Amino acid sequence: MTAIPYDRIPLVKGLPLVGNLPKFLRDPLDNARSLEVHGNVVRSRTFFETVTLLGPEANQFVLHDREGNFSSRGGWYYWIDAVFPGAIMAMDDPAHRHHRRIMQGAFKRSAMERYVADMGPVIAGVMDGWRPGPLTIFPQIKSLTLNIAARVFMGMALGAEADRMNRAFIDTVEASLALIRRPVPPFAMWRGVRARNLLVGLMRERLPAKRATESADLFSQLCHARGEDGERFSDAEVVDHMIFLMMAAHDTTTSTLTTLVYCLARHPEWQDRLRADAQALETEQLGLADLPRCERLEWAMKESLRMYPPLTSIPRKAARDCSFGGFQIPKGTPVGISPIHTHHMPQIWTDPHRFDPERFSPARAEHKRHAYAYLPFGGGAHLCIGQHFADMEVKPVMHQLLRRFRITVPEGYRMPYQLVPIAKPKDGLPVVLQAL
Ligand code: HEM
Repeated sequence: MTAIPYDRIPLVKGLPLVGNLPKFLRDPLDNARSLEVHGNVVRSRTFFETVTLLGPEANQFVLHDREGNFSSRGGWYYWIDAVFPGAIMAMDDPAHRHHRRIMQGAFKRSAMERYVADMGPVIAGVMDGWRPGPLTIFPQIKSLTLNIAARVFMGMALGAEADRMNRAFIDTVEASLALIRRPVPPFAMWRGVRARNLLVGLMRERLPAKRATESADLFSQLCHARGEDGERFSDAEVVDHMIFLMMAAHDTTTSTLTTLVYCLARHPEWQDRLRADAQALETEQLGLADLPRCERLEWAMKESLRMYPPLTSIPRKAARDCSFGGFQIPKGTPVGISPIHTHHMPQIWTDPHRFDPERFSPARAEHKRHAYAYLPFGGGAHLCIGQHFADMEVKPVMHQLLRRFRITVPEGYRMPYQLVPIAKPKDGLPVVLQAL
């Protein structure tokens, strides 16, 4: 059967000029739901006309992609190339495969053991400064994860230089979603390009020392990483990858920690359970070997990633003519999938709006109902290379937090959040910490 032509894919026009952009920015789940009414293949206009493919089969079709139908470079280029040139996420094969093989070396078990060991004291040092009482916790979590990055990614001691790097780093991230895409002062893209230059200078200065002696930080690990045939990154590639890795790791992990803290503050029964588990472990700082023992914390982390996936949608561009759901998708078409939509499908999840970590327990395993039902870390060739790293950061932070404080929000509080570009609370998430 021949597929139906592209221009007969249902089109949701949205508002004049801006299309569905305001709706997408306000609430990407609600936006996807309004598309779903027209089927699982729908055209709409956000930044430009995109075909949204909905549901687990669509996710598999786009991400698993054995046929090479989709380009990740085509999907991401517009957003990240100005400040993150050379990013692995915006590469296609064969370059992607080559870079990924080498990068994998920086995520091997022996390296991960040292990253976790280095994180523990940073977390303890930062939390020593948190006082019982009211605390707007999102900026504190952001500052904590930046400090972890300075130490674990760069091997830096905390202080003025790490602060300078952290500020530059925040500017590069903000630029990636700037609405004005040209580097015109004083706008975000201009600040981002300037900040990138500062980061490049900072890393280039340190590169010879990182190459000379292998140390525990990710920067040095990238310098020494080798592919299967001994291939390694050039200096320029190490710098590009470092800057991208910091951005890929930072906001996503900050977002996950924030939404998890929120969920636990709203569900004290789960907070108590996880605290009891943390206390039973009888160690102040977790090591890599302890992580599999945090089983219920893992369910809770998965559940907050299901409800608030930091990347609510994933972009691609059709690299060749293909078809899905009976419709033609011509080469060059911008295509998007929506993890947040799949994560709330009642056909997959029981009571999808309920915080229910046990749905990830082996007895229920709702996430296994389809290989692409649960995709906070994407899937296929570009599956997040840092997903174990994220686990390795979120669990030790939560472990220490739960052992030190009880976290509360007022009865009936609902976190006002923005989900695009990355889930974060609009009010900074005001909580009260009670010392234990
Ligand atoms: C909870 C935290 C995180 C979430 C939710 C997350 C999510 C994702 C997603 C959805 C993708 C796939 C994008 C696509 O297919 O277009 C991705 C890719 C990637 N992530 Fe993560 N990420 C997280 C943490 C991290 C960390 C900690 C690192 C590094 C230490 C990292 C490094 C990367 C890299 C390098 C890629 C690109 C991989 C490739 O193109 O081969 N991420 N991430």
